[in-house]
Amino acid sequence: MTQAVKKAVFPVAGYGTRFLPVTKAYPKEMLPIIDKPLIQFAAEEAISAGCTELIFVTSHAKKAIEDHFDRNIALEQHLLQRHEFGLVKTINDITPANVTCVYIRQPQQLGLGNAVACARNLIKDEPFAVILADDLIRSNNGCCLADMVAHYQQTGHSVLAVEQVAKEDVSNYGVVEYEDTAKGYIKNIVEKPEVENAPSNYAAVGRYVLSPKVFEFLDQQVEIESGKEQQLTDALAKLLATDKIFAMELNGLRYDCGKKTGYLKAIIDCAMQEPAYREVILSAMENTPCT
Ligand code: UTP
Repeated sequence: MTQAVKKAVFPVAGYGTRFLPVTKAYPKEMLPIIDKPLIQFAAEEAISAGCTELIFVTSHAKKAIEDHFDRNIALEQHLLQRHEFGLVKTINDITPANVTCVYIRQPQQLGLGNAVACARNLIKDEPFAVILADDLIRSNNGCCLADMVAHYQQTGHSVLAVEQVAKEDVSNYGVVEYEDTAKGYIKNIVEKPEVENAPSNYAAVGRYVLSPKVFEFLDQQVEIESGKEQQLTDALAKLLATDKIFAMELNGLRYDCGKKTGYLKAIIDCAMQEPAYREVILSAMENTPCT
């Protein structure tokens, strides 16, 4: 029987250079959509998909992530004294009682593949999810990761979330080549291809459910010695020689919060869903002269 997917890896060790100066001393993954940080949306998605062990691959300047998922007894007591019971629940619900958070360092920012490799001893031989918090996904129909986990559990094959992107944007992504036009299983994945060489415009986005076999192609030590970045996409391309990989089209809206325009769009779209914020935005727009 296929093992259940109980572990989720959150690579959060990157420098976040596109958001400097805020990311000099503050994690990009803690940037808020109004009052909730991106990493909390990601953790909630993993928990809804059935994961109970959250593994954060961190680096220096990321302590705020550990603090966010830990209890803050002094703050709880302060809120209790003021009878702010709703807020006590809000902060205590961040990490449900059945969920464990584990932190491991990535010693050098050597790419996403290397970050995932850092979690190898914690994953052991279990299947696992990988979630990039800077891809915020609002799903129309439940949780995108939950569908991917269900597929893994039925088939035992790794699953990638993919989305069609504009042709000129393919060189920012890992791009898949499907086995046939019916979609589903893939025969190749290429990291950041040139527009003219891209096998399709289906790009891998920040959700993966992976077989532990992928670790055979992610050698942490060699990469540290060479100082070269290690891409998860390249390891997946190698995995294809011995195992099947399914590419599931994303069911929902994705915001690339790793770049400022995507982050801004996520905030505005989320705010527009809340009547109180919607009014503020509409009135601010009315009063803003177009230049
Ligand atoms: P990005 O490439 O989008 O993040 O990686 P970055 O490198 O932090 O950002 P920029 O490009 O400099 O602005 C996607 C995710 O992978 C993590 C990042 O923290 C981010 O959540 N990551 C990236 C690692 O954990 N380790 C790495 O070596 C690289």
